[in-house]
Amino acid sequence: MRAQVAIIGGGPSGLLLSQLLDVHGIDSIVLERKTKDYVLGRIRAGVLEQGLVRLMEQAGVATRLHAEAYRHDGTLISYGNETFRLDFSAHTGSSVMVYGQTEVTRDLYAAREAAGGKIVFNVEDVVIHGADTDAAHVTYTLDDKDHRIDADFIAGCDGFHGVSRQSIPLDVRREYEKLYPFGWLGILSETPPVNHELIYASSKRGFALCSMRNENLSRYYIQCSLSDKPEDWTDAAFWAELKRRIPAEYADQLITGPSIEKSIAPLRSFVTEPMRWGRLFLCGDAAHIVPPTGAKGLNTAASDVHYLIEGLRQFYESNDSQGIDSYSHKALARVWKAERFSWWFSSLLHRYPDQSEFDLKMQQAEIDFLRTNQAAQRAMAENYVGLPY
Ligand code: FAD
Ligand code: DHB
Repeated sequence: MRAQVAIIGGGPSGLLLSQLLDVHGIDSIVLERKTKDYVLGRIRAGVLEQGLVRLMEQAGVATRLHAEAYRHDGTLISYGNETFRLDFSAHTGSSVMVYGQTEVTRDLYAAREAAGGKIVFNVEDVVIHGADTDAAHVTYTLDDKDHRIDADFIAGCDGFHGVSRQSIPLDVRREYEKLYPFGWLGILSETPPVNHELIYASSKRGFALCSMRNENLSRYYIQCSLSDKPEDWTDAAFWAELKRRIPAEYADQLITGPSIEKSIAPLRSFVTEPMRWGRLFLCGDAAHIVPPTGAKGLNTAASDVHYLIEGLRQFYESNDSQGIDSYSHKALARVWKAERFSWWFSSLLHRYPDQSEFDLKMQQAEIDFLRTNQAAQRAMAENYVGLPY
């Protein structure tokens, strides 16, 4: 088989890239190692920046998003007994949209299928060959048969555990990583959200987040120990702990119910440089991970896709490789800003096992500064709604 672009990974990055390439008349094949139902069953991001909304519009897949997503103009932040609202629109004139990653992926799959796009599921043993030559190709097996795709370019959209990043030689690749000494236990429940806006809560017992998907679907998270397993936490224990960590007025109103999903995610900051090697380009979680605080993971994957699309269009429409040559540099400049914000917001709100009295005072002073200082609020709001690209 031949394609202009071979895309490894059928998550949000790979699907969005494939759909946008199609809009610009560039053909691609997507290789996904799981089934479509498996990808759609992964409950992950819930907050979209306007940049991602615009990309969905350009990809022709924003109809349902515009009909069903919820615009959020601000968020609540609480620290101990103190709660304040950060007004995104007042500070930036912009807002974010609440719309689940599962829905983004569902809309993209529907569009790819309607356009007759090529997506191969259940692939195994994907290997990238000759990415630094003019004969780049990808091999894989499907039902025990060997296959090969020859391509002008390969997009590594296969997430943190994929093969694409590992294909870049170690003497070219540089990795930066920070592991956090806690995880997030998240549940989804068919109950009305406790508040119409998100609540980021820092308490003596650790961090908690009240989020949502729609009027009868809530997403809640609590900071947990890295050794915890989801099955260690009964629903009753989860609700009791959440209530202890959020402001009393909200705890009193919280409507609880059975969880329909429960999972634990470790927190990690990670960046690999460069994001391009020859004809291979990394996008999204394949190249970088942020801790989830601040909802930047999916949104940063989207900005990578934007820079890559611009570069590939320039290449195919004008035979100009300037855009693909500057891809890594442009994408990383924005990635590091998202890394900084996610690291800062995580450090602000979590309890660390080795936190000293001094560290706690610093955290409190930082939150007080944010609560009372308009410039600090504006900086936070600009980052939360998404830096421009
Ligand atoms: P992925 O979604 O990981 O997709 C990669 C795809 O590649 C997968 O479908 C995988 O099966 C496939 N694949 C892997 N290896 C291979 C291979 N060898 N061959 C073929 N296919 C392969 N981000 C936010 O912005 N906001 C949030 O609120 C948020 N919450 C999160 C909560 C959790 C629990 C987690 C885990 C992440 C969260 N994120 C959040 C991050 C966000 O979900 C990711 O940044 C996003 O999924 C990245 O998309 P991606 O397409 O780059 O990677
Ligand atoms: C969600 C997750 C986040 O990490 C976040 O900062 C906001 C919302 C969510 O899953 O809804």
